[in-house]
Formats: sequence, structure tokens, C-alpha cells
Amino acid sequence: MAAVRSRRGGSRLLPAALAAVAVFLVMRFTSSTQCQLEHATAVGGGSRSSAWPLGSSWFPGSQPLPSMTQRCGDKVDEERFKAYTAYHPSIHGWMADQHPGVLKALTELQHEKCIVGSVGEIGTHHGRFFFALAATAAPDEKLLAIDLYEDQGKNIDASGGTDTSKRTEFKKHAHALGWPEGAITILSADSTTLTPANYTTHGFPAFRLFSVDGGHAYETTLSDMELAARIMHKGGIVIVDDFVNNAWLGVLDGVVTFTRTTKTGYVPFLWTCTKIYFCHRSHHEMYLDFVRTKYDCTSSSSLRPPSYSIGGVQLCVVDPKQCTWSGLQ
Ligand SMILES: *[C@@H]1O[C@H](CO)[C@@H](O)[C@H](O)[C@H]1NC(C)=O
Repeated sequence: MAAVRSRRGGSRLLPAALAAVAVFLVMRFTSSTQCQLEHATAVGGGSRSSAWPLGSSWFPGSQPLPSMTQRCGDKVDEERFKAYTAYHPSIHGWMADQHPGVLKALTELQHEKCIVGSVGEIGTHHGRFFFALAATAAPDEKLLAIDLYEDQGKNIDASGGTDTSKRTEFKKHAHALGWPEGAITILSADSTTLTPANYTTHGFPAFRLFSVDGGHAYETTLSDMELAARIMHKGGIVIVDDFVNNAWLGVLDGVVTFTRTTKTGYVPFLWTCTKIYFCHRSHHEMYLDFVRTKYDCTSSSSLRPPSYSIGGVQLCVVDPKQCTWSGLQ
């Protein structure tokens, strides 16, 4: 349970954590030789641990996933969304109550802008956030859940705990929420071994929403983000959990490194309740303008304007005091 407490506790430590980001960035980019050495010997990240990616290419030769046929104006199923909102506190997991609403608002914008595509997550645990993603999907937007499930021996940092009942719990909640058997593709896999081609093979069009909440080590985070950014629809959104959370500095390290080094064009536009939302540079202005109209991006008195950017990219930062955490954690 220690991990549970610290995951929550981290949300209250944003100012300290942002200061840590600043110190970290100064150290990182003034003393890169030492930092790279440390990374080269870091534990974890599965199969990619020996392939420090800076300056090299991830997934060489990978092709963009085909997009779904474009159409505009899909509506979120209000009944299904309401049912999920009432149900989610009974799903074990760590998710602020605000996120389903954020996903719904962003989905409505996407559908208005004719952005349709698959919906998925790496690291579903019992599905608390996954079913929020799923609740936004149009009937033909495919759903993909990836976790190690029974294979917890590969969970090198024990993120999300190591219980082996994840699949049973996930399916129980899927059933309770009315998802028919087979509506959700459940993939048990070490995400660091996947490539964009795997998603094509499994028949997934380019993704509209994708959540990265698997291994919280630096290399796993970076690998999962690089993979996610390559399977997205051009207007898709990648969401990364536990940034900023003092219990999971590997995520902090991975997200910042990704933002500063990725060649995918993915950039952050929103930080709220420990999740950071990324989109392609071509859609950054659209999403940033949108969230600025929906949320108070300037409410945290302890923040100063320079804190509102990472890697030179502006983002909306919502005061963590506005986040609430209910139900099972
Ligand atoms: C991903 O693709 C590789 C190469 O085709 C294959 O060996 C591997 O089994 C695939 N993984 C999954 C989970 O489908």
C-alpha cells in the first residue's frame, strides 16, 4: 500500500516537484555526459535498456497506422458516460475524479473536428481510467487494453501493484459496465517489445486517445511514449499518468526527455491532476486554446509563468487543489 499512498501524495507536491524539474533540467543540460552515463547503467526498460535512444531513431521503418474513414460530429453516449461516472469509484485504481470530464470534453472537440480513431491504454490495472476512455468512444472506434496482467514478474518497478487478478478484475468491471465479450481487445504484453506494426497486425486504425500508464521507470516511460506517438491519428491525444508525482521520478525523467528529444512532433498542452496530455505540434494551438477556455490554467498562486512550459512548449497547468480522489485506491 505504500505505493498507493505515495501516488496520491504526489499530487499535493506540485510546486516542489516543478522546482525539482527546473533543477533537473539545469543539471541535465549542463552535465550531459554524466547524466547519459547514469542512464546507460539504469536498470529497467525491458528489451530496450541497452539502446539509449537520444540521437538514434525509434522503430526504424515504421509506417503510420491507417486512419479510420473521416467523419464529423459523433456524440458521446451520455447514458454510458453517466453510468461510468457513477460506477468508477468502485474500480480499484488511482484516478482523479476530474479526468473523465476532461476526456469527454476533448472527445467532443475531436469529433467536432472530424478526428476519429482507436482508443487504448498501456497499463490498465483494473480499468478505472480505461473505462473512462472507452466511455467516450463511438461504436466503431476500437478499444485496446494492454497490461502485463498475470505476467507480473516483468513489472520491474511494481507500478500499479503486482496483483495477478488484474485481468479478472478488468473483465468483471467491463461486464458490469455493459461491454459485451470481445468489444475490448485485451492484450497481455510487455509494451517495450511492441512496435507500430503490432497494432496494424491486430487491426487497429490510428488512435484518437492513448493512455501511457504502464511501467513507471524512465526507459519504459520513454519507450511507451515514443511508441504511442507513432500510432496516433494526427489529431490524437497521448495521456501520461503520474507526471508530476514525487513517487515516480522515472516518469518525470521520461516525459521531459521525450518532450525535448522526440522526433514525433508530440508536445504537451495540459497538466491536470497528475496526468499530462500531449498532442501533435500541428494541433497544439487548437487544444491549448480549448483547454484555456474550459479550465483555470492560472489559478495556482505558487506557480510563476516560466513554469507553464516544458522544453519551450506552453501548456495549461491546473492547480492540483482542484483535484479530488474518491473511491478505491
Ligand atoms: C509483435 O510483432 C512481432 C513481430 O512480428 C511478433 O514477434 C510479436 O509476437 C508481436 N507481439 C504481439 C504482442 O502481438
